[in-house]
Amino acid sequence: MVATKPRTTKAAPRLTMDVAEIAENTTVLRSLDWDRDRFDIEFGLKNGTTYNSFLIRGDKIALVDSSHAKFREVYLAALQGEIDVNSIDYLVISHTEPDHSGLVADILELNPNITVVGGKVALQYLDQLVHRPYTKEVVKNGVKLDLGQGHELEFVSAPNLHWPDTIFTYDHKTEILYTCDAFGMHFCDDCTYDEDIDLISEDYSVYYKCLMEPNARSVLSALKRVGKLPEAKQIATGHGPLIKHNLEELVGRYEEWSKNKAKAEKTVAIFYVSDYGHSEAMAKALTQGIVKTDVVVETMDLRVSEMSEVRVLTELASGIIIGTPPQSLKSTVQAALSTVLAVAGKKQSFGLFEAGGDEDEPLAPIRSSLSESGLKEAFPPIQLEEAPTEATYQLCDESGTDLGQLLTKAKNIKKMKSLDGDLDKALGRLSGGLYIITAKKGEASSAMLASWVSQASISPLGITIAVAKDRAIESFMHVGDRFVLNVLEEGNYQHLMRHFLKRFKPGQDRFEGVETQPAENGAPILAEALSFLECQVVTRLEGDDHWIVYSTVDNGRVSDVDGLTAVHHRKVGNHY
Ligand code: FEO
Repeated sequence: MVATKPRTTKAAPRLTMDVAEIAENTTVLRSLDWDRDRFDIEFGLKNGTTYNSFLIRGDKIALVDSSHAKFREVYLAALQGEIDVNSIDYLVISHTEPDHSGLVADILELNPNITVVGGKVALQYLDQLVHRPYTKEVVKNGVKLDLGQGHELEFVSAPNLHWPDTIFTYDHKTEILYTCDAFGMHFCDDCTYDEDIDLISEDYSVYYKCLMEPNARSVLSALKRVGKLPEAKQIATGHGPLIKHNLEELVGRYEEWSKNKAKAEKTVAIFYVSDYGHSEAMAKALTQGIVKTDVVVETMDLRVSEMSEVRVLTELASGIIIGTPPQSLKSTVQAALSTVLAVAGKKQSFGLFEAGGDEDEPLAPIRSSLSESGLKEAFPPIQLEEAPTEATYQLCDESGTDLGQLLTKAKNIKKMKSLDGDLDKALGRLSGGLYIITAKKGEASSAMLASWVSQASISPLGITIAVAKDRAIESFMHVGDRFVLNVLEEGNYQHLMRHFLKRFKPGQDRFEGVETQPAENGAPILAEALSFLECQVVTRLEGDDHWIVYSTVDNGRVSDVDGLTAVHHRKVGNHY
């Protein structure tokens, strides 16, 4: 059903606060970021986002999460309007990402006596964020904190949702479950709650797909732990509207999506040491590349994981990636790393990365150990010598895709062969032109031969391109991204086609030996193209194995007005 409710107008000022009572002695402070249009590396936003913080007043007072640093003035003013910050006893940190913890240092400045409550690693990283001593209380799954007046908080371990150190908080009095990123959505409007499910469904599902689906098994584990608590009446998320009116439905969707994902797909386990820094970013880029191939990823922090969990995940995974730990943590993670190496076996594939250069444990012994156990190396080790750039993340992304493709190759060949012969040939009679998509983001660039291209609108001028989900160029074609569509010329395309059809290694320069010039949008124009179009992605429709990318066309030129577009005739429809 199409949403009919009009969106609230995005009015200035663009950063506003909304404060509301959500239960007895419980207040939400929502930081409304109306115009944020990007989150994480690749996550384009259509409806802004919110950062939600919660005040619970028993005999003791707790604040659950804070806000993004960009809300410093308005958030602190709103908080002080609600309460004397000096009277807050506890600050609960669901995890340490700056969109929720960006103002912890400011709160500690106002009230140095506050006790900060969080998971072990979350608090270790908070140390680096706040640069000052503070009182801390490390909590684990099942630990309780009594605020008085019935407000007994119980903590639930929810690793990987969306950070390895995430905890949920459940208030036994109000039956509110505080979940930070989980069950959230990037959606900003005046409504505190999820009254209109049609209005939020798309953002809810896109958010799940981007942040939670890669860790579908972790979602199911967290749901299981939450299932042991009394039933929640509200889910107080860290982003977007709180969930009350459609709680069963929306939680049910998480469960269904995660079950489908976890049972249908192969799994890659990424073992590393979480650092809110380079290793984290590299693990995320690897994950992004792997999930393009419909493979599930489970990330596990070697430092805080139970040995039994490490063993189970190593046995379950078809692919194993290890991010080498810093030497300073060698003894801390030795047992976990040894378990991975001992359990890994010859039916598995592996890849390695290091983020800390000389400060990391050397890769070679781990590589030898896995190779000797018969594992197949899916991509060359990724070693970081300088601070990572876009090119580093592209290398990780494409290495992840290579591993995923290795794991799904047999399934995909079977799928291709399963198409009915007559239908296959009939479909093969659909023809298209021949094009090369080129794109550049910072130091990273990519290209792909395309044929499934069509004009899709006149005003504005727009085209659609079908891009297989596991193509490297997919990372350059998210909402808001710019690229060039190069049109190849009949009689003058064979060498370009051969060049761009080659299998490139992860991170390899696609343009070596090819003459290009930069378009106004920065993407390379192929000098030998018949014409080019400068495009910007507006929206993407998700198919099973392809994204249908709709883009507007801003600029273009033709080199030979009498030239004809190269046409691609096929015999069968089960491949390009
Ligand atoms: Fe919304 Fe993982 O921070």
